Amino acid sequence: MTNLDTIDFAKYDKSGMIAQIKSFTQDFRKAWELTKSISLPSEYKKIQNVVLLGMGGSGAANEAIRELAYSNACPIECVHDYDLPGYVNENTLVIASSYSGNTEETIRGFSEAKKRNAKLIAITTGGEIKRLAEEYDVPRFIFDYPSEPRMATPYLLSPLLRIFAQLDLYELPENFDKVCDEAEPIIRQFYPEELINKNIAKQLALNLYKKFPIIYSSPYTKGLAMRFKNQINENAKKTAAYDYFPELNHNTIEGYVNADCDLVIVGFQSKFGLDRIQLREKITAEILNRNNVQFERISFNEPTNPLVEHLVLMSFSDAVSFYLSILNQTDPTSIPNIKYLKSQL
Ligand code: PA5
Repeated sequence: MTNLDTIDFAKYDKSGMIAQIKSFTQDFRKAWELTKSISLPSEYKKIQNVVLLGMGGSGAANEAIRELAYSNACPIECVHDYDLPGYVNENTLVIASSYSGNTEETIRGFSEAKKRNAKLIAITTGGEIKRLAEEYDVPRFIFDYPSEPRMATPYLLSPLLRIFAQLDLYELPENFDKVCDEAEPIIRQFYPEELINKNIAKQLALNLYKKFPIIYSSPYTKGLAMRFKNQINENAKKTAAYDYFPELNHNTIEGYVNADCDLVIVGFQSKFGLDRIQLREKITAEILNRNNVQFERISFNEPTNPLVEHLVLMSFSDAVSFYLSILNQTDPTSIPNIKYLKSQL
């Protein structure tokens, strides 16, 4: 098997994705600075609900802000689809996020939201979403970051944080300017320079190699588990799935008895979750063990707030999926099936 400590990544990583993985917090700082330009009309404060449009890598950033702002009284829904919920009207804030600006589901939702007189915002690098945002003359964050959409998370999440903070939908952590400083030393431990015996991202990639990973999340890291699954699919070209507590305790756990393939369950835990969820995870781990299903628990004690935890878990997912792509001897950047499908629509 490929040795992750000695391999020259460039052999498979043709576009240098590893550099982006290593610049995650730096990119986040730069992106946050740029979002200072976002200014919202005062009537945007009067909204009654929020709908976030986005697919794949763009949709994953939407899930992150929805989770971070979960305790806010304003209902927030992420739509990964063509159609808008029936309640969208002039009191709804609709944010369309699309890295390329050319994703048809997002374009359709954005155009429909305009017809329903919703308050609109666009986050994109260009394409049709940019054109529509200019035509509608609505607030927009247009950024330039050459990347695959799924690796542009700093540029997709930062404007959402800024918008949500401006509209009082999310309170930035007290030490917000220290968020990246806090995440950085944790994230560094996933870098290629850190050898396998100390690098839990490399260790997990080796554990998942040739197995079927299912990521189990707590209620507040569901979007992160979904993003982790997507990164494994797209970067490593590998099957993966996700599930979440407490719901999985009411169904999934009976399926281990006749597990059809070589499963590895990855417990993607939030340290900010309920104690009852931690207890459920512990009992679930016991059941998995009895049924000879491998369980790998991933949790970080250091983060002092959920935003730092989100950045760390995102970066961890990026690193694990990258190492898996190298183990699978595939270029993490190329996504031929997604490109083919889009070309055939
Ligand atoms: O990472 C990817 O390339 C995909 O998951 C895309 O994000 C997805 O197809 C949607 O495209 P976009 O983010 O450009 O709207």
